[in-house]
Amino acid sequence: MNNISIIVAIGENNELGKDNQLLWHISGDLKRFKKLTSGHTVIMGRKTFESLKNGALPNRRNIVLTNNKSFQKNNIEVAHTIDDVFTLINPDKEAFIIGGEAIYELFLPYTQKIYLTKVHKSYNADVFFPNINLNEWKETERTDINEDVQAGVNYSYITLEHIIMNDIIADIRSTLEDNIDIKTQESSQLYFREKIKCYGVKVAVVTDISKKYFKTLKGKSKTQIFDLCDELWQSGYIEESFIACNWSYYMRKQFEPDDFKIFEEWIKNYISNWASCDSFCNHTVGSFIEMYPEFISILKVLATSENKWARRAAAVSLVLPARKGKFLNDIFEIADILLLDKEDLVQKGYGWLLKEASKAHQQEVFNYVIRNKKTMRRTALRYAIEKMPHDLKVQAMEK
Ligand SMILES: NC(=O)c1ccc[n+]([C@@H]2O[C@H](COP(=O)([O-])OP(=O)(O)OC[C@H]3O[C@@H](n4cnc5c(N)ncnc54)[C@H](OP(=O)(O)O)[C@@H]3O)[C@@H](O)[C@H]2O)c1
Repeated sequence: MNNISIIVAIGENNELGKDNQLLWHISGDLKRFKKLTSGHTVIMGRKTFESLKNGALPNRRNIVLTNNKSFQKNNIEVAHTIDDVFTLINPDKEAFIIGGEAIYELFLPYTQKIYLTKVHKSYNADVFFPNINLNEWKETERTDINEDVQAGVNYSYITLEHIIMNDIIADIRSTLEDNIDIKTQESSQLYFREKIKCYGVKVAVVTDISKKYFKTLKGKSKTQIFDLCDELWQSGYIEESFIACNWSYYMRKQFEPDDFKIFEEWIKNYISNWASCDSFCNHTVGSFIEMYPEFISILKVLATSENKWARRAAAVSLVLPARKGKFLNDIFEIADILLLDKEDLVQKGYGWLLKEASKAHQQEVFNYVIRNKKTMRRTALRYAIEKMPHDLKVQAMEK
């Protein structure tokens, strides 16, 4: 998650400045600015930098955005794109966006916190702070300063925190709790060998909850949504993992190759039962692989993992493409890697994959089973031939 904060002073109508200068001089506010930002990174536009009388701000790392490739000044780092900025900063440390208008606008969608000084007066200005959707921000602190004698204004320090990122998870959790079904709670554990953590909410209700809350994320970036998914996964609750699976699948039109790193981390770090493994891998990873088949090579690496869920993931990620007749040779290669796997749920995983592949390639899968039946695990073999005609099944089962 980014740790971006905006720090800004605005007039009654969002006024920021005029003629590349501030509109007021409030020494208390300048001291607060210095106190909050010292020791941190500050990020600004080239014009704001040029408005600073003494150049780079001391005791802070200064990053200046400009399109000018030859722009260089003492004690600053130059960035040419927002991605440059994200590469330069440490995501674990708070970084401050200090203006002006263009830069506030650019970073607002990535901002978690706004330190706002609201000056209670209207000004004639030529740059303005963007309008923010107050439904998305929660005021967490406010101090009213009545009458700065020197500046002759009243103003307020207001801290705003991004609600969606902070509260949506809490809302989802209380909605899940409100929907606990005692029978579901009692029976959930029966489907698993390992101890699972669950609220006891019916799957159909979890699906409705994930759809309902996904709608509230409209306008959020993929990174923000994946960050929320990460938080849901971290809980360990099976229902929360299903919501994370659904949300990442709903984002499939925006999948890019780099997303696989995130999916791989989720598989390795969070998957701990067959249900979340299959839900995530069938849909999210399966769709990704159909878009970027070159990543099948990474599934083959996962198939050699010490983590049994990663090994099952390697197989079940190809289940839906297999049903469409795709990637047969890769499927056989993954089955080869998993052929002697001792874990029952891995055997079932690759057996299921072969069964799905047999729907479009019955003869090839039958030949594969016959070729390997002496060494192949019996569970996997039984799964693989399940959809075949009786006579083929008999031949395959013969010792
Ligand atoms: N009230 C406050 O808290 C506050 C805080 C800061 C500033 N201000 C005021 O805001 C005004 C300045 O704001 P501004 O909007 O005119 O200028 P700005 O945001 O400070 O700087 C704009 C410049 O940043 C660079 N830039 C912007 N977007 C970029 C991108 N995507 N990639 C690369 N470079 C990019 C461009 O530089 P190049 O032209 O070099 O390419 C652009 O001209 C001043 O009046 C200042 O006093 C007020």
